[in-house]
Amino acid sequence: MNILILGSGGREHTFAWKIAQSPLCKNLFVAPGNSGTAEIATNIDLRVTDFGAIKSAVLSNHVNMVVVGPEDPLVQGVHDFFLKDSELKHIPVIGPQKAAAELEGSKQFAKEFMMRHQIPTAAYQAFDRNTVEEGCAFLETLNPPYVLKADGLAAGKGVLILNDLEEAKTELRNMLVDSKFGDASSRVVIEEFLDGIELSCFVLTDGESYKILPTAKDYKRIGEGDTGLNTGGMGAVSPVPFATPDFLNKIEERIVKPTVSGLKKDNLPYKGFIFIGLIKVGNDPKVIEYNVRMGDPETEVVLPRLKNDLVEVFNAISNQTLHKVAIEIDERAATTIMMVSGGYPEAYEKGKEIIGLDQVEDSIVFHAGATLTDDKIVTSGGRVIAVTSYGKTYQEAIKKSYQNIEKLHFDKMYYRKDIGFDL
Ligand code: AMP
Ligand code: GLY
Repeated sequence: MNILILGSGGREHTFAWKIAQSPLCKNLFVAPGNSGTAEIATNIDLRVTDFGAIKSAVLSNHVNMVVVGPEDPLVQGVHDFFLKDSELKHIPVIGPQKAAAELEGSKQFAKEFMMRHQIPTAAYQAFDRNTVEEGCAFLETLNPPYVLKADGLAAGKGVLILNDLEEAKTELRNMLVDSKFGDASSRVVIEEFLDGIELSCFVLTDGESYKILPTAKDYKRIGEGDTGLNTGGMGAVSPVPFATPDFLNKIEERIVKPTVSGLKKDNLPYKGFIFIGLIKVGNDPKVIEYNVRMGDPETEVVLPRLKNDLVEVFNAISNQTLHKVAIEIDERAATTIMMVSGGYPEAYEKGKEIIGLDQVEDSIVFHAGATLTDDKIVTSGGRVIAVTSYGKTYQEAIKKSYQNIEKLHFDKMYYRKDIGFDL
C-alpha cells in the first residue's frame, strides 16, 4: 500500500516511524513533513488544508490510504471531501468526518454531546455577543477560579483560567465583543473549575467498536513545576501511574462506551482516534475536552508502546473490523522530553543548526519543528525535537532521555528538566 500522512510535527514523524515498520506499507509520503520524516518517507510540500493539492498528491502518487495528523483538515472536512469525490471516495481516510470533528471544533457542541449522553464533565453555560451581560451574571453565581473557553479552534490558546471576578468579566467581553481569539471566541463556554490531576485516554474507533490505547500524561506549561504559559506540550509519560485498573474501568464504562455509542446514535461518522482529555476529581474521571486526533507529544509515547502493525489496525478501522483486532501493548514505560526554541511559546528565532543527533543511543529522536536546509538539520518551529525512551519504570525512561539530551545542542535550546515530577 502507498500511504500519505498529513502534518509536519513530532506526532507525524512518530506515525511515519511506526507505519514504516509495517510490511504492508510500500511507499510512504508525509505532507508537508519535516527533516525526520524525510529520512524514512517522501515529503510532499503542501498545506494540510489545501484539499485540491492533497487530491493531486494522492492521485499522482497512487496513495491507498490517508492518515490525518492535525485537527484543522478534519474540522474543515477533509474526510467528507474524499467521500464526495468520485476519484477519491474509495481511498480510506483515518480521521472523523466533519460533523464528528465538531467535538474538537466547537466546545459548545462537545458539551451538548456530553450532556446528551450523560458523560461526566464540568457544569457549563455558553454565551455569545448578544448575551454578554447574562454571561457576566452567570460568572457572579460561580466560585473562583473562573474558566472561560473560546468555542472554536484557537491553537490551544483559547482557555483562560482567572481568579478575579472583574478580570473574568473583562476577558469575557474581550473574547465576545473584541474578538480576542477571532471567530473562535464569537461564542464562549464558561465552565465550573475542576480541581484534580490531568491525564489523557486515547481510543481508536471504526464507528462500531473501539479499542483503548495506553494512557499518557502531558506537561503543557513552559516552566518547571507546571508554571508559565501554555505550550503544545513539553513532555509526556505513558502509562500514567495513578491510572489504576479500577480508575481505567471507570473511564471505559462512564466515558469511552457512552462516547462511542453516542457518536453512533447521533449519526456522527467516526473512523479514527479520539483523544479524551480527563481530570481525576477525587476518584472519578471527568472530561475536560475531546480532540479528534492523537496528541502531540502524547503520540511520541503511545505509539512506541503499541506492538501491533499500525497499518493492519488502520485497515481494520476502514473495513469496520476493529472488533477482531487484539491490541498488544509493550509493558515498558515510555517517556518523551520536548526540546524547544528559546522564547517559545512566545517569539523565537528559527534556522539554528541542530547538532549531536547521530550521538543519541538507546532513545528515539522524533523531529517536530526541524527542517533540512543545505544538508543541515535546522530549527523551523517552537517545538523542535522530542526524545523518547523506554524503561522498566518511567523514572528509568526519563533518565535515558535526559542523558541523550546532553549530547544534543542548538542555539537557545530549552527543555523542562522536571517531566514526571508530580507522579
Ligand atoms: P482545553 O483546551 O479544554 O483542554 O483546556 C486547556 C487546559 O485548561 C486544560 O488542559 C486544563 O489544564 C485547563 N482546564 C480546562 N477546563 C478546565 C476546568 N473545567 N477546570 C480546571 N481546569 C480546566
Ligand atoms: N498535547 C496536547 C495536544 O496535542 O492537544
